[in-house]
Amino acid sequence: MLAVIGGSGVAGLDIMKVVRREVARTPYGAPSGPLVFGQISQKPALFLARHGPGHIHPPHCVNYRANLQALKNGGASAIIAIAVVGGIADNAPPGTIVIPDQIIDYTHGREHTFFDGADRRVEHVDFTLPYDESLRAQLLGAAQACGRRALAAGVYAATQGPRLETAAEINRIAGDGGTLVGMTGMPEAALARELALPYAHLCVVSNWAAGRGDSVNKISHEDIFATIESSVADVLKIIEQFATTYSSDV
Ligand code: HPA
Repeated sequence: MLAVIGGSGVAGLDIMKVVRREVARTPYGAPSGPLVFGQISQKPALFLARHGPGHIHPPHCVNYRANLQALKNGGASAIIAIAVVGGIADNAPPGTIVIPDQIIDYTHGREHTFFDGADRRVEHVDFTLPYDESLRAQLLGAAQACGRRALAAGVYAATQGPRLETAAEINRIAGDGGTLVGMTGMPEAALARELALPYAHLCVVSNWAAGRGDSVNKISHEDIFATIESSVADVLKIIEQFATTYSSDV
């Protein structure tokens, strides 16, 4: 079953026909909110709001392990994670939709692995290609099929937050190869890999990152919210289209 994680601005899915909600428990604690079961494009689907109802869990406090484990236990076979990001590369101005192909992790102090209990033998999962390539291809196909332009690659830099970055930090990230910046992509993607759950990111650029474009001196929160609001419909269209063709066999 397709699972969707909603980020900022996507606390629910209008495109989903909701059947039931379930308050899940895991050995890692409670997920951010109830699991929402239903259908998207007549296909079974599962939804979880990453920040919980009313955005109560900021990026550095999200219980990523509980979220991923709850989705797995709920029957997820693949995860599309919606995320709002800052644009660093010239080809990623606000409003751009990106399906990134790589990650750099700058987060710290988060519960970032399932392999730290005395009862679990450590497994060094391969993370060379952090996103599932088949899911990425299907997402791109879905974007094309509904006439939405999406960048087919990008390097997602995960920062700790909740504050935004300094201009110098963004310059450093750009030097490292980062083209997008967000606060929630890690450890989410790595935990999905540890659970062998195919995972892809559907990112919306909400603002120029610090020091770039019109964010030379300051990042405008009003602009961020306006961009999110105007882009959410496109993201939902892509997911709806994706669900019509998604098959867990590919
Ligand atoms: N930095 C980090 N996370 C973000 C940004 C940003 O500029 N915009 C949206 N999420």
